[in-house]
Amino acid sequence: MGALPRPGLDEKLREILAICQKMNSERDLSVLLDLIAREATALLECDRASIFLLDRERNELLSKVALGSDEILRFDARMGIAGSAVMSGRSINVRDAYGDPRFYTAIDGQTGYRTRNVLAVAMRNQRGEIIGAFEALNKHVGAFTAWDEESLSALASHAAIAIETAQLVGELRRSQDELVEQNAHLWREVEIKYSSHGIIGTGPRIQQVVRLIERIRDSLVSVLITGESGTGKEMAAKAIHYTSQRARRPFVALNCAALPEALVESELFGIEKGVATGVQQRVGQFEKANGGTLFLDEIGDLSLPAQAKILRVLQERVLERVGGRNPLPVDVRVLAATNKDLESEIAKGSFREDLYYRIKVVRVHMPPLREIREEIPLLANHFLKDYCRETGHEAMEFSPSVLRRLAVAAWPGNVRQLRNEVMRLAACARTNAIGEEDLWEGVLAPAAEQPLPSGTGPTPAVSLKKAIEDLEKRMIQQAIDETRGNQQQAARHLGLSRQGLINKMKRYGIG
Ligand SMILES: Nc1ncnc2c1ncn2[C@@H]1O[C@H](COP(=O)(O)OP(=O)(O)OP(=O)(O)O)[C@@H](O)[C@H]1O
Ligand SMILES: [Mg+2]
Repeated sequence: MGALPRPGLDEKLREILAICQKMNSERDLSVLLDLIAREATALLECDRASIFLLDRERNELLSKVALGSDEILRFDARMGIAGSAVMSGRSINVRDAYGDPRFYTAIDGQTGYRTRNVLAVAMRNQRGEIIGAFEALNKHVGAFTAWDEESLSALASHAAIAIETAQLVGELRRSQDELVEQNAHLWREVEIKYSSHGIIGTGPRIQQVVRLIERIRDSLVSVLITGESGTGKEMAAKAIHYTSQRARRPFVALNCAALPEALVESELFGIEKGVATGVQQRVGQFEKANGGTLFLDEIGDLSLPAQAKILRVLQERVLERVGGRNPLPVDVRVLAATNKDLESEIAKGSFREDLYYRIKVVRVHMPPLREIREEIPLLANHFLKDYCRETGHEAMEFSPSVLRRLAVAAWPGNVRQLRNEVMRLAACARTNAIGEEDLWEGVLAPAAEQPLPSGTGPTPAVSLKKAIEDLEKRMIQQAIDETRGNQQQAARHLGLSRQGLINKMKRYGIG
């Protein structure tokens, strides 16, 4: 173009450059389309300019009806001059619109505008794919020139990039909004589930725990939670965390009993890269919980050297990664739980007294279920509702006699065992009313008939699991016999889906 003398060429080029800069800083697609149209109209000294975006899936062209409006015109991508530019990938300069067979008069009909002449160029993105057309209408004086054609093409290639960027940013914004919304929803769920109000129980023992948790919600004291297995120690720890000001910071639970001695330090405090060949940097649990809460579950099972290391972090509020040179400050609230009697562990010399006093600033004791039998019906109904909600099952209920039987059973595994038993009963029940015929004698033997030696832990998990499996096997066999092998019917009797029944039959080898 340098060969042809053109008046004001420099000025025009500068104008195009200025438009490109404006386009590149606009990220809102609707505003961007208006901006491009407005600037192109001024540059080409014409009546209007429009952008048509190609919807490849539907093979349609989309265009805004007017500047500032969000109303969209859609039409077949093969129609009109814009459509021809998109299909051919070339620019089209039409001096007399109504004399050109490609002109799509219906659009004038829809918009009430009278088109005299048209200049349309295809828009390509950086990968050379056509993403739409750029069209100018009605040159103020005469028809569009070859220079107009070049200007519009130059603008179109920049516009295409700006439009793609704005589309991408728009998509990212939408998906981010969605994530923010989902996240807020999850937080609400977590807070409802684990705030102290998720702790079920109306009697004095549980209410005492709830009130204690409420009372310490604004302080960051260390709390030691004691109680037998399955009494809700972890649930209490989460309630403490999720009612505190740290609710939206991390809650990290660490099972001390599962830590092999050799890994205690790197697991708790992390490890620096390259301590030994091939060692990658790892962030320890203390650091992961920074700003939040670290729950040291089964703290009574920590070795003495590990106890000493934890005590140091609690006292000095700094930690050192394995192989690290600089101490890192940490701000972690510590909650600990144990089913051991730490005072007798101290007497035996297997638990440090100084650590004990540091972690038990406040003590929460979770009572065993046999001591709060009055809560059993409430808990059982609560877990039954949980089951129905989680599985999408219609509402179920226990007969009063079942609730009475549940209330007098032994429950060596405490609330967790009750929860498991309710889930099993619900899964195996033949109707939505769970009656005595659904009970399993083994678990539900009254406490008196199954005296517990003092200080017993839970019955071993394997035997309970095995017993449940035996029962399930028997029930399935019985249902199959009763329905003479009709799986659909048998599944219905058992409250299972047909596939669920088939899976179980396979697992138990029932032919
Ligand atoms: N008062 C309660 N209200 C509602 N749910 C409870 C209550 N107590 C316990 N649970 C439920 O019982 C189950 C066991 O609780 P959790 O895991 O907190 O016990 P735990 O004391 O940590 O057991 P373990 O010593 O075996 O680790 C969980 O499903 C918990 O939600
Ligand atoms: Mg636990």
